[in-house]
Parts: sequence; C-alpha cells; structure tokens
Amino acid sequence: MTEVAARKEEPAAAALIEAKYFSVTLGTEPNRVVALKGVTLSILAGEIVVMVGPSGCGKTTFLNSICGLLTPSAELTGSLTVADGVRLGYMPQKDALLPWRTVLGNVEVGPELRGVGRAERRDRADALIEVVGLSKFRNSYPHELSGGMRQRVSLARTLAYGPDVILMDEPFAALDAFNRTALQEELLRINDKTRLTVLLITHDLSEAIVLGRRVAVMTSSPGRILDVYPVDFPEPRSAAHLRGTDAFLHLFQKLWQVLMTESDPTKRAA
Ligand SMILES: Nc1ncnc2c1ncn2[C@@H]1O[C@H](COP(=O)(O)OP(=O)(O)OP(=O)(O)O)[C@@H](O)[C@H]1O
Ligand SMILES: [Mg+2]
Repeated sequence: MTEVAARKEEPAAAALIEAKYFSVTLGTEPNRVVALKGVTLSILAGEIVVMVGPSGCGKTTFLNSICGLLTPSAELTGSLTVADGVRLGYMPQKDALLPWRTVLGNVEVGPELRGVGRAERRDRADALIEVVGLSKFRNSYPHELSGGMRQRVSLARTLAYGPDVILMDEPFAALDAFNRTALQEELLRINDKTRLTVLLITHDLSEAIVLGRRVAVMTSSPGRILDVYPVDFPEPRSAAHLRGTDAFLHLFQKLWQVLMTESDPTKRAA
C-alpha cells in the first residue's frame, strides 16, 4: 500500500543538491517579485524527485537557481548547495536542438564540447539514440521530426553530456498521451539501469506520481515546499501499469486535494 502521509523531515542521506530556507527575489523596482521564500529540499543520489505546484510559484526559478542561470539583479538568501564535482544537465521545456545538425550531431554536442574523441562520442551518441528509439532517424534534421521525437533527441542529448543530475522543466508537456507515457517509461528504464538523479517539474500529477520516488508539493507564490510525499511503488515501475492501481489512485486523490487547496486562494489558511 502506498504511504500517503507527508514526510515532514528530509532523509539524512548525502544530498547532491540541498536547499535550506532558500529565497529568491527577482526583477527590478517597481516589478520586484519574491519568487521563492524559504525552500528547504534535498535531492539524494539516484532518486527522482518531482516538484509540483501552482503556476508562478517559483519552480523554474528553483531550477535556474541550481544552474546559476538567474539574472544579476536576483537577490538570494538562505543556502543552495550543489555537491562538489556534480555535473548538471538541464532539459528545458522547449527543446533547444540545433536546426543545422542532425539527430546524431545534436546528441554529440555535449561530449564534443568536453573534448571527447570522435569515435567515442559517436558510439555513445548512437547508443543513446537507440535507447530513445530513434536509430532510424539518426541522420534526420530536427525539422523532419515530430514534437515527441524532438523531445526524445533532447533527452538523449542531455544524457550524452553525462550529467550526475538532470533538471527537467515540464519536459513532456507538449506531447500527446501516448508519447508522454512512452518517454516516462524510458526515463524509468534509464533510472533503473543507471540510477540517474533527476529533479523534474510537472503540472501533470499523474506524471509526478509514476515518476517520482518523492513528490515535493510547493505552496502558491512565493513558493516554498509545503510537503514531500514518498511514493513507495514496487520497482521496477511501469508508468502504464501503475495508473490503474489502487495505490496510484489513492495518492493521486490525496495530492489533488492538497494542490487544489493550494491553488485556490479562498481555501488556503491565512
Ligand atoms: N526574470 C524575472 N524577473 C522578474 N520576475 C520574474 C522573473 N522570472 C520569473 N519571475 C517571477 O517569479 C515568479 C516565479 O516564476 P517561475 O517562472 O519560477 O514560476 P513557475 O512555478 O515555474 O510557473 P509555471 O508553472 O507557470 O511555469 C513569478 O511571479 C514570475 O512572474
Ligand atoms: Mg515554470
């Protein structure tokens, strides 16, 4: 049975990313905005943590903070630590494929920038292109691919960079239900094999539950972590299978209630 009680304290294992009472203020006067207010969250090696929360609560700001992508006027308080030597991969919502490069050329970009030799990076890229099911399209250009295929290339490209942690901002939002489930299955499979660490943002509660080993629910703006829910499904997981289980529905209803309350200002506690 899935446990649905919120875990109030973070586990005490070593964290790759750790935020403690982390706050961010963005923009310039008179449009200065407190985007995050007191976020405390740890991302542990090998886990998939999913963040959900009302629009504008600061989820993208949190990912940008981890990557150091905030504008210079941003004011930060509290702490946000990325463990030494941890390599971050960022998969933004909109794929940023290079239109003049083939699928293979796009997937090779990371290793190429890191100076990996041609033969080795080609082998690695081909293996990842196979993982995401695009071997037949390795020589196609992005404009010749569907949105779902482009997202697959984007995932392969992020993996080819060899990150220790992947940050994903609504990575599958633009996909139809079939492609979305297929990519979720792929991410689960890759995580089973490699114990990749992932911090993923989604508005899709069902996606959060099938992918997350923990689901962090944020408050409305300015965001902080309201609660973190462990998701204890048997491993390995199947996204398609899990959706029909009682444990899934139970957790879905619980999180839905929490999010509805948080998204509706008339229902929130003052
Ligand atoms: N560069 C910026 N300058 C000023 N304010 C900003 C900037 N970027 C984001 N904000 C504000 O910070 C807050 C958090 O934005 P953010 O994009 O992190 O939200 P989000 O949770 O990712 O929302 P969504 O779910 O809609 O993507 C919002 O109020 C937004 O208007
Ligand atoms: Mg966002």
